[in-house]
Amino acid sequence: MARTGSPLAPGRGTVKIRGTVTPPGDKSITHRALIIGGMLRAPLSLGHPLTSADARSSARVLRQLGVRVGPLRGGHRVEVQGAPWHVPEGTLNCGNSGTTARLMLGALAGCPFAARLTGDRSLRRRPMRRVTVPLTSMGATIREERGDGLPLTIQGGALSPLQYDSPVASAQVKSALMLAALGGRVAVTITEPARSRDHTERMLRFFGVDIDAQGTVVQLDGASFQPAEVPPQSIDIPGDPSSAAFLVAVALLAESGELHIEGVGVNPTRTGFLRVLERMGATIQRENERESAGEPVADLLVRPGALTGTRVDASEIPSSIDEVPILAVLAARAAGETRFCSVAELRVKESDRLNILAANLRTLGIEAAVEGDDLVVVGSDHRPRGRIETGGDHRIAMAFAVLGTVPGAAVALSETASVGVSYPRFFADLERIRGE
Ligand code: S3P
Repeated sequence: MARTGSPLAPGRGTVKIRGTVTPPGDKSITHRALIIGGMLRAPLSLGHPLTSADARSSARVLRQLGVRVGPLRGGHRVEVQGAPWHVPEGTLNCGNSGTTARLMLGALAGCPFAARLTGDRSLRRRPMRRVTVPLTSMGATIREERGDGLPLTIQGGALSPLQYDSPVASAQVKSALMLAALGGRVAVTITEPARSRDHTERMLRFFGVDIDAQGTVVQLDGASFQPAEVPPQSIDIPGDPSSAAFLVAVALLAESGELHIEGVGVNPTRTGFLRVLERMGATIQRENERESAGEPVADLLVRPGALTGTRVDASEIPSSIDEVPILAVLAARAAGETRFCSVAELRVKESDRLNILAANLRTLGIEAAVEGDDLVVVGSDHRPRGRIETGGDHRIAMAFAVLGTVPGAAVALSETASVGVSYPRFFADLERIRGE
């Protein structure tokens, strides 16, 4: 794999994989811990938080609202001291982070002041009405500047209860409405078309909030939330399975050896990719299964192995949505065809992942197509060679960097800085686990 600006020299190929690696703290859980911690009154101490650009976006906007968030430095705990939120100092810039923008819109809906939110170019093109429409039904006033997206201004205040049938399975939508219910002290019932990740439910339950979650329906009464009664807490954030997925993939594509990936969150609403990989023929052992702050955690042991193409059904997508880029790369090395069904949501991620994945795979000489809302990839042992466009998207950059580790590959990335959004040490970890 060649980094940006380097010539398209053939990669040295990961012949042997080895060692032990701990992925960075879970991005979804870190955002939730910072935001919910900011709504409490007692201090919250976070072990193994993600300290990437996205986590910093949440920390920054919370500080602008009066929450005390200690520095986010790799290898250090982060201390959060919540407080009643005040009129923000300036516009809240959510950077590249959709989770910051959407969860903060929910949390701000019950606050009696106006706040303007914006983000970087990628975030400004992402839809916000999926959150602002139900928040408006609850009573928030939202003023858009350029149609469906940031920048926009939310004027919060007294809210009414809401029963909402969400048209998308989105944990960001579900969480925004739950946070609005907490801030506005009202009840919400949210029904999703499929179950999305449940980190908010688990964390709120851990903090003593009464939540009823059955299948695809979540109910909570914000009036039962007593932020002043939650005692000081200390929680350890599991390693991010979405970051671990890249390490799993490097190990599967190697020729020999084994890789230990420690402290990975294995919440079933996030580990659809492990189930898909097992069906493709991978053996991924879970060891030392345990629990941390209401989240299941395990160590993973991965050995190289041949993969066979599969059909990933629409029902499997919510639990593997962020892993489609790396699964598509693995599908390019599997025997036969892989079809990812109904992945339209990929169009509105940090980039248009659906089209960018197909285009990049084709650039490298791999057969790939978008058919309606499906992504189809035909596997082969063809040597991937060419320069791919990351679209400034961290998961696209990491997925193709992994493809660049196969013997005979020569993959150049248009940029590598985007990995700082979720996995700043990605290239260092990748180097450390590869043998020749
Ligand atoms: C996230 C939910 C997912 C996911 C995103 C993080 C979260 O988005 O793709 O990376 O932390 O709630 P959607 O809720 O839009 O599916």
